[in-house]
Amino acid sequence: MTVKPDLAAGLALPFASTAPWKGSSARLEVIAVIDETADVKTFVFRPEGGGWFSYKPGQFVTLELPVPGGPVWRTYTLSSTPTRPFSASVTVKAQAGSIGTRWMFDTLVPGMTLTASGPAGHFSHWNHLAERYLFLSAGSGITPMMSMLRAMADTAPASDVAFLTCGRTPGDLLFRDELEMLARQMPNLTLGLMVERKSAADRWHGLTGRIDMARLKFLVRDYRQREIFCCGPEPFMAGVRLMLEDAGFDMRHYHEESFGAPSKAQTQPQTKVQTQSQAQATSAEATSEAKTVTDDATAGRVPSQVQGAAPTAAPPAQDGTAPAGYAGDGMQLQFSRSDVTTTCAPGTTLLEAARAAAVRIPAACEAGMCGTCKVKKTAGDVAMEHNGGITDEEIGDGYVLACCARPLGPVTLEV
Ligand code: FES
Repeated sequence: MTVKPDLAAGLALPFASTAPWKGSSARLEVIAVIDETADVKTFVFRPEGGGWFSYKPGQFVTLELPVPGGPVWRTYTLSSTPTRPFSASVTVKAQAGSIGTRWMFDTLVPGMTLTASGPAGHFSHWNHLAERYLFLSAGSGITPMMSMLRAMADTAPASDVAFLTCGRTPGDLLFRDELEMLARQMPNLTLGLMVERKSAADRWHGLTGRIDMARLKFLVRDYRQREIFCCGPEPFMAGVRLMLEDAGFDMRHYHEESFGAPSKAQTQPQTKVQTQSQAQATSAEATSEAKTVTDDATAGRVPSQVQGAAPTAAPPAQDGTAPAGYAGDGMQLQFSRSDVTTTCAPGTTLLEAARAAAVRIPAACEAGMCGTCKVKKTAGDVAMEHNGGITDEEIGDGYVLACCARPLGPVTLEV
């Protein structure tokens, strides 16, 4: 049988002679588009021109999507496993009002290429090695869990892992067939599938309802002995946090990630009343807003992780007093490549100031995590609180993340 040349491309990849994909504005080629459910697709990529991917299961990439009207940047968790390194995939849900993800749904076909950066992120069981795990997810928050479980299946199939995932209906559960297959192959995998509602046609024999302590104990009696990873809509995670805290779980063994708006839990104390009502809100709509699969509903907002803000300088004064270097009419900001000089009020981020001055700095998460907005600072001081989107080495080389850096005086950026 003769294989068409365009289809044969990539069939033989010399591992030893190729380098791992370096995601700083590198190109990815789409090699497959897979329909998962009615509104979820998986896009599979390989490095353009060959190569392989090196990342930790649970990490994410940022894609530059050339939508009409100008590019947008979207951050997506990889649903693939690094143990199969010649391709990497994102599993994406198109929300109502979507721009970037809708463009992917409507436009991306095998053979097309995209600019991407990454992989990045700290939400990975490789960073928290343990004897037993509990993966809890709702909706498309399943994607980093799937990446981690696939890696376990390939490298340590005897891993003791309980995998609980929740969806609106049986038809909304992602990767169900594969999960049931893995449950047959992995002797210590406990699989719990839960839906909010079912119809007579669904022939559903799993749990119905929302996650609570009774259901958790029924499925995973020894949850207290497990390293817990949680991902899903914020109301879902708030409910899980409260449930575990109330049960006296040692929260040092709890890790979560979302790609939605900043969690109040991460910025201010949250009352029990708030959290309980949010837990009740883990409804169909909330589940459909699952965050790991970032969509335009969450565009420009936060992929956040419970661990690890890393302040690199004192924050700007919050008491109305002007910090040193503030001349009274604004902090002076110079964008040297654009030949633009502007001023901004104390507390303004470099990204906000750039936008106000019509200087384009790419940004995706806007929470100091994805690294898309990294720019070189050639003069001045900033206060920056990031979430892992930049390394100490890069900071030492003068780079800052524009979305979470605020000038402390006159600043010059190489943009
Ligand atoms: S936009 Fe993601 S780190 Fe700034």
